[in-house]
Amino acid sequence: MPTQTIDDLDTPSLIVDMDIMERNLQRMANFTRECGVNLRPHVKTHKIPEIAKLQIDGGAKGVCLQKLSEAEVFATRGITDIFITNEVVGKQKYPRLARLADQIDLKVAIDHYENAVEISKACSEVGTELKVLVDVDVGLHRCGVLPVEAGILADKISKLKNLVFTGIMGYDGQAMSGKSKSEREKISNEAMDQIAIAQKEIRKTGHEIKVTSVGSSVSTWTDARRPEVTEVQPGMYLFNAVNLVEAEVATLDDCALTVLSTVMSKPTEDRAILDAGSKAFHFDHCAYPWLVGLEGAQIYGFSEEHANVSLKGASRSLKLGDRVQAIPQHCCTCINQHDEMVALRKGNVENVWKVAARGMMK
Ligand SMILES: Cc1ncc(COP(=O)(O)O)c(C=O)c1O
Repeated sequence: MPTQTIDDLDTPSLIVDMDIMERNLQRMANFTRECGVNLRPHVKTHKIPEIAKLQIDGGAKGVCLQKLSEAEVFATRGITDIFITNEVVGKQKYPRLARLADQIDLKVAIDHYENAVEISKACSEVGTELKVLVDVDVGLHRCGVLPVEAGILADKISKLKNLVFTGIMGYDGQAMSGKSKSEREKISNEAMDQIAIAQKEIRKTGHEIKVTSVGSSVSTWTDARRPEVTEVQPGMYLFNAVNLVEAEVATLDDCALTVLSTVMSKPTEDRAILDAGSKAFHFDHCAYPWLVGLEGAQIYGFSEEHANVSLKGASRSLKLGDRVQAIPQHCCTCINQHDEMVALRKGNVENVWKVAARGMMK
């Protein structure tokens, strides 16, 4: 069969430039190796087991996932070292969690004793053990115990049957909100100070902390240098996107992921309409994607299946049927909109991956 190229793809298509993705993969693997911490990428970013295998082959210790159903999908596709960096709550989920713990090397985050009791019971029924990381709120104010309460919870968990207290996690996603590089670094360092408090509290109760897992694609560059940290869990670094360019941890040249679309209408000289809208890009941060290599052209409006583009200067020559690429604002939610991702190398199709854990929210 002749090699398919980018020109053969129907639109909208989610595409990844393999050369850029591999460079991003290597950069993070090298950085974490230099810092002496384990890399456990968050693969809810892409939900594609084949890419997770590339990350593991590149030196990652295992993966993080956010949802039990995502973990089940990855486990059936041969990923056997998974940390669910999230609270798993609900009677429908406990037996599934225990069964998965029986099959693979699984860890889960816990921030409440009652949740630990339920998970302990489910694991006892299955006759398996599950490793637990206490989730500490390091300033995001989402889930997590206060750092000063981490010792009490760790101690209680370690007394429960079939649970193995293994360490702590603290996700400092709030670092993204810093207005400058130095402010983002300051927020990350303050979060790690909270980690240090939690560690002190746990050590007072006599428990060993084997794993301290932290970090986002913004904060990992700061966190990994801290002595408290043993493991980092960035996700988006693999592709990058507008949000990470704005956060100054990537440049446009580091953005591996785009949506390819076609000019489906050119109603006026200064306005083009693309065949990819909010259903192809997602719009969770109410910010538009950036067009690649089209000076003067800017996406300024979305319908579900349309993007409105304003055209100035040379970009006014854009015509019906032309194909354009745009970098999403946020790669994770964009990927979750698509059934498959096309891997391109120098314009040739190298792979078409199914987004296997797409829509796995339970
Ligand atoms: C708990 C947790 N860890 C790690 C990550 C990865 O961070 P990022 O998306 O900035 O790469 C996320 C992302 O939401 C997360 O929720």
